[in-house]
Amino acid sequence: MRRRAMRQALEGAFKGGDASKALSGIDIIGDIGIIKVPYSLLDMRHEIGERLLQKLPSLKAVYRQTTPVNVVERVRGIEWLAGEERTSTIYSESGCKFKVDVSRAYFSPRLSYERRRMAGICHPGEMAVNMFAGVGTFSITMARLSAVNKIYSIDCNPDAYKLMVENVEINRVKGRVVPLLGDAKDFVSLQGVADRVLMPLPELAMDYLIHAVRYLNRRGWVHIYLHIEGKSKEEARRKAEIRVMDRATAIFDITKIQSRVVRSVGCRTFQVVVDSFGEANLR
Ligand SMILES: C[S@@+](CC[C@H](N)C(=O)[O-])C[C@H]1O[C@@H](n2cnc3c(N)ncnc32)[C@H](O)[C@@H]1O
Repeated sequence: MRRRAMRQALEGAFKGGDASKALSGIDIIGDIGIIKVPYSLLDMRHEIGERLLQKLPSLKAVYRQTTPVNVVERVRGIEWLAGEERTSTIYSESGCKFKVDVSRAYFSPRLSYERRRMAGICHPGEMAVNMFAGVGTFSITMARLSAVNKIYSIDCNPDAYKLMVENVEINRVKGRVVPLLGDAKDFVSLQGVADRVLMPLPELAMDYLIHAVRYLNRRGWVHIYLHIEGKSKEEARRKAEIRVMDRATAIFDITKIQSRVVRSVGCRTFQVVVDSFGEANLR
């Protein structure tokens, strides 16, 4: 809704008439808007930012995305366009509040349904490990909206970790969400603790599957997020399930598998989550 309002705010405002193209792929995070400005409109980027602030009083700062998200921390390059020069804000979702810094740690408002879905499928008393927890969004939503016992929440980005510690305080889930700083493959003390493991990082999920299986208390659920090409959502889901089954061979005996398309992430490319239940089969 706010995205549509932003697009309308630009329509007809500039010569050439197509400044609304600047809003392809817009993200609104709290009171900060991040837009992609096409090359042909770069000279007008500050005016575009000002115009958005005038038309949408709830926005306090506008930035432009300058680089794609990087591979490890998943942080994107941004340039200030208009309004306050600050990159940190509070984002509210599902009764939770998240402190976010758009220049230092990954955050996507587009995963809100998926976070609620994950909270909805947790069973009371469960132990979970979130291997790529970011600022704590999945873990905190699960702790607030379900009766999950504890979620160990790992991230290797020190800035994301610090924000996660703050978000745990803000949302009063201390002791139930346990922030951990480091590489998700290195937590020997977590081996055998989990009923459920989340892997919300498509670039590493497959390579780290063996570590996820080690964190299981013999059997449990592993949620693997992947980017998959496909002519249709259905094809992408099918391919994702096959890929997980293939990789699980000889380490994880899967007895239940299901999947859903989380979102489209490019031309004929989808983010798919594969929910798999099985028994660890590690020698
Ligand atoms: C796509 S983000 C997901 C964050 C969070 N789940 C969310 O949706 O807001 C992936 C996160 O994994 C972290 N990360 C990347 N490689 C890692 C590794 N080897 N071990 C632990 N965390 C890692 C990044 O710093 C980033 O915060």
